[in-house]
Amino acid sequence: MNIQRLRVNHLENPLGFSLGEPVFSWEVTDTISQKQTQAQIRVFQGEQCVLDTGPSPELDSLGTRLPLKTLPRTRYSWRVTVWGDRGDVGESETVWFETGKQDEPWQGGWIRGGEKENGILERAFVLSAAVKRARIYISGLGLYRLFLNGLSASGEVLTPGLNAYDRWVQVQTFDVGDLLHPGENRLEIWLGGGISRGRFSYTPTEGYTYCPYDCAVAELRILTEEREIVLSTDESWTWRSSPILESSIYNGETWDYGAPVRRETARRCAPPVGPLRDRLSPPVKILRERKPLALLRTPKGETVLDMGQNMVGWLRFPVSGPKGSVRKLQFGEQLEDGCFSRANLRTAEAAFTWVCDGKARSAEPFFTWYGFRYVLLEGFPEDVRAEEFTGCVVSSELEETGSLVTGHSLLNRLLENARWSQWGNFLDVPTDCPQRDEREGWTGDAQVFADTACFHRDCAAFYTKYMADMLEEQRKAGGCVPYVVPFARRRFEGGAVGWADAATVIPWTLWLHYGDNALLERMLPNMLLWVRWVAAQENWAEACRHFGDWLALDRPEEPKERVGKTDVAFLCLCYAFYSASLTAKAAAILGDTASEGYCTALAEEYRHRLRKNWFTPVGDIRCRTQTACVIALHLGLAPAPDRLRETLTSLVQETGHLTTGFLGTPWLLEELPEAWAWKLLLREEYPSWLYEVRLGATTIWERWNSLTPEGRFSETGMNSLNHYAYGSVAAWAYRRIGGIAPLEEGAGFRVFRWEPLPNPALGHALCRLRTPCGEIVSAWEYGPSELRLRLRVPFGSEAEICLPDGRQERRPAGEYSYVIPRSGEETESGEESQE
Ligand code: BGC
Repeated sequence: MNIQRLRVNHLENPLGFSLGEPVFSWEVTDTISQKQTQAQIRVFQGEQCVLDTGPSPELDSLGTRLPLKTLPRTRYSWRVTVWGDRGDVGESETVWFETGKQDEPWQGGWIRGGEKENGILERAFVLSAAVKRARIYISGLGLYRLFLNGLSASGEVLTPGLNAYDRWVQVQTFDVGDLLHPGENRLEIWLGGGISRGRFSYTPTEGYTYCPYDCAVAELRILTEEREIVLSTDESWTWRSSPILESSIYNGETWDYGAPVRRETARRCAPPVGPLRDRLSPPVKILRERKPLALLRTPKGETVLDMGQNMVGWLRFPVSGPKGSVRKLQFGEQLEDGCFSRANLRTAEAAFTWVCDGKARSAEPFFTWYGFRYVLLEGFPEDVRAEEFTGCVVSSELEETGSLVTGHSLLNRLLENARWSQWGNFLDVPTDCPQRDEREGWTGDAQVFADTACFHRDCAAFYTKYMADMLEEQRKAGGCVPYVVPFARRRFEGGAVGWADAATVIPWTLWLHYGDNALLERMLPNMLLWVRWVAAQENWAEACRHFGDWLALDRPEEPKERVGKTDVAFLCLCYAFYSASLTAKAAAILGDTASEGYCTALAEEYRHRLRKNWFTPVGDIRCRTQTACVIALHLGLAPAPDRLRETLTSLVQETGHLTTGFLGTPWLLEELPEAWAWKLLLREEYPSWLYEVRLGATTIWERWNSLTPEGRFSETGMNSLNHYAYGSVAAWAYRRIGGIAPLEEGAGFRVFRWEPLPNPALGHALCRLRTPCGEIVSAWEYGPSELRLRLRVPFGSEAEICLPDGRQERRPAGEYSYVIPRSGEETESGEESQE
């Protein structure tokens, strides 16, 4: 028996994270057993065992919270022993977690220099003995980068993370022992405005400033062979102006090492922000590097790099020009008529300007990011070469968990596009888009994509931070959820149907995928606050601005109208029901019977009102849109589901294509009869998912028609080419092509349904999903006269198998394969769906 993937609060060997009572999880492989019968966790502080659960049938491999009162700045190690149901036993290796400062007071305090300039706080110090261990506890606003003796101290970027700084500021803990040495050492904290001092809103005038100046706080604790040294931020530090002359997340950066340097003594300051708390955010890092595909000369004579992929991050390149010469890069997503275009970026300048100081240096920005495939180069030598540039792909560091490959190349590319859009929009905050003057944590986008996101990557820790921020925002707003989280705007705006419901949908999605009740417990307050807010509205539909079925195509007479035709009052009743029922289920799981009763009664009332107001006595829907039908069907709200499905099918038949927007799209294929689901998925003409793939998309577009067939931005405005919302179709692909769906009956894939929907047009499919129980492998393949299917059920998991020939069975951990003879009929229907 092998025990692996040991996690604490869904993090691998977490250093300095806010853990509360730690939650332990692990995965078992290579065993003859099918299930765990008992487990034992032992936690050590040094040599001393501080917690021993003893062998217990109660310990859950998907999440066991233990009543361990942790001390600040302390390393714990732990291991787990597992007993299998067929008598084998395994013991894991020993792994660790280490706490941060927790509530301990800081020795120094916040310091600053300069006014509205980007600066560097620095401190030199001498060590007389070799270092045994060193940690730095640090935060900085707007964004900071830490260097020790000229080297990056963490490999992380965009620290301290983007969140509601007015409520809390995240502290990072880094192990810096390897960067220190006897003799002189130098600490530098580079600062840039980020979202704290800079704009973080699409409306420039509404931008909220968390803190008008940059500042940092740090405590470096070094244990040498002689003693412990504590060095903290105070007036002994120096501030100097930075070569980063301008920095803004939307506009980019301007660097000049030749600019005059101003120095002053650092000052203590009290920043107008919330308290320091140990981090929740998983690190944001450069996770991949890629070389450009080509260096192009455009018809206008421009020099443009093509990265071959719409990516998020920046470029790194060497510079050595004469003093004062300027290199400028502009980032864009699309060539129009073969020339560089940034027509869809609105007010974001998305540029990087480098003024040479005569020395050879490596150039790259620090406190901004770009969403781009093409880069316009200006001021570079004539013989500049593509190989000089390195694309730095930046994202939150999360384990990749799912993959799905079929025999259909356009579909495969669509699935890859959804994955790339997640990479590019998971930079600490789940953002709508990474390139224009937005890049905000839009709740609706986050909600509709969460299921897909959890198939692709382990998102438990990532959303834990987002939901913690959301809770802070909800507490400020009487339970209401703002449009974006964090909400860096002056006037509160929120409560939009399908957007604010992120407060209930994300926790529920996490629970289904990860099966850890501690996550649900942490997020039940979000859910309840939101449900209560809705219940307190006399008329929710009129209480705030809604986005409805955003960007739907069901108002062809008004192509510029963004709110789809589905009535907002209808959507409000559906989502009020949905949020109340999810919260009722969450409360029931957690044993909160009072909340369960309250939410169940609300859900019943909403269901009743919806049926009364929006359905005729024979069960016909009064709001005839694809989205209205899809949502009512999906939520089980239709009084006559078969009749409603017929209505939905005839609505699709009338146009021959989808017309759904942000809210209807994620569930559309699931609610359609199989043949229509395939038709819409594999359709290549506008509007469809594959239309954009055929036009060369490498990420998911914001709109069905973001580009015209000629590859020009459409005239609708708002045409991000990297907007993951419609990528939510990938969840359907995992659930129906891969056939793997988590079930409430056994969240975290303890029990899952395997009901693949093979299609000869795809030929074959292979889906791998690293669930909390272990890896599920699902595969099917058409032979000349048969369909072969294969399933691997991991340890601790059980599959409810529903085969295409109607056979049903329930199976524990193991490998299963099936052969189904092909009928002539089936071949035909497959070919039909290929057209
Ligand atoms: C964003 C969307 C967001 C919407 C709200 C847009 O500007 O890019 O993705 O959800 O506003 O309607």
